[in-house]
Amino acid sequence: MNRCLDINLVHKKYPLYIQRGLFNELGAEIKKVYGGSKIAVITDENLNYLYGSRLLSILKAAGFEASSIVLPPGEKSKSFDTLLNIYDSLINSGINRSHLIVTFGGGVVGDIGGFAASTYLRGVSYVQVPTSLLAQIDSSIGGKVAADLKQGKNLVGSFYHPDAVFIDPELLKTLDERFLHDGMAEAIKYGCIRDKKMFHALMDYNTSEELDENMEYIIHSCCAIKKEFVEKDEKDTGTRMLLNFGHTIGHAVEKYFNYEKYTHGEAVAIGMHMMTRFSESLGITSAGTAGAIRNILCKYKLPHSIEIADASKIFENIKLDKKNAGDHINIVVLKEIGDAEILKTSTDFIEEKFHLKECIIS
Ligand SMILES: NC(=O)c1ccc[n+]([C@@H]2O[C@H](COP(=O)([O-])OP(=O)(O)OC[C@H]3O[C@@H](n4cnc5c(N)ncnc54)[C@H](O)[C@@H]3O)[C@@H](O)[C@H]2O)c1
Repeated sequence: MNRCLDINLVHKKYPLYIQRGLFNELGAEIKKVYGGSKIAVITDENLNYLYGSRLLSILKAAGFEASSIVLPPGEKSKSFDTLLNIYDSLINSGINRSHLIVTFGGGVVGDIGGFAASTYLRGVSYVQVPTSLLAQIDSSIGGKVAADLKQGKNLVGSFYHPDAVFIDPELLKTLDERFLHDGMAEAIKYGCIRDKKMFHALMDYNTSEELDENMEYIIHSCCAIKKEFVEKDEKDTGTRMLLNFGHTIGHAVEKYFNYEKYTHGEAVAIGMHMMTRFSESLGITSAGTAGAIRNILCKYKLPHSIEIADASKIFENIKLDKKNAGDHINIVVLKEIGDAEILKTSTDFIEEKFHLKECIIS
């Protein structure tokens, strides 16, 4: 089934296609949005090993002159060292402003490749071909591109939208199970904040085959929600914050464990469950919601709690989060599954009411 969404922004409109087997048609599809001749593909070593030569053949068969820039896999590639290497390769391949960059990979390749596209020669057109579930339902939509600094993740970046996004769920068949579940945490998040029907559908799938059969529906549902938030709040100053459900605690947990123990999705999973236990204890969230989240997280082999000796360290990290303004903190809480709101509160209130110890030991 071919599913298409148009992302309609104030200054730009672009299509997002979701279709099984789309990878094999990328040459023809890119021709519809790009009339030039030369393409630089930015990818990582894992994807290059699995798909690199096929991708170049597909692009060349469509008449493009194409070459690849291959990065080491993983977050360490979202660095300024990598960025300089990308610029070098773009110059050496003779890429100019009339040419196109194709980012082919997970969120790391999309973020750093998109940032390179936004800055090289003051901006070159690019298209996103996201290959991890997280990238297909989250990072490829919304135009946030970035590099990390040693002081923290995503500290330098811009909003720079692609000319198109091409999503092929077939590519997920080679994705490691841990990364698939990592992406499922974000899919569960979309269900929690906006789509009760999808939340229950995810709960009802019983086998990995059933999940795979429904992947286009899941990706489309998630992208439609992200599209809605991005269109309403392109620069992430208001309602787009709802997409941060689970992230306040999630970021604090990731940081506490030095980004080594939990993936981003796993940390968000813990954050969604802990935050909902908290809001349920305050009477904001309907009873049983935290239990429902815990059950779905267990189903997708995601953690829901952590065990640490000193819970106050997590709270210190929450206070330091760059998204807090002074003593105020915006937290995203559920009223029930499928209905979220932003709660503006103070860090003191949370410190007093949030019984972290209770939430931490499962
Ligand atoms: N821009 C945004 O709005 C946004 C939103 C959320 C996350 N992010 C960023 O996304 C990044 C995480 O993305 P990620 O989880 O995709 O990580 P990633 O890009 O490191 O990919 C995870 C791993 O899966 C491999 N992989 C990807 N697709 C594959 C496939 N089809 N088959 C086999 N292997 C495959 C990669 O090589 C890598 O080893 C973080 O840097 C995060 O900050 C950005």
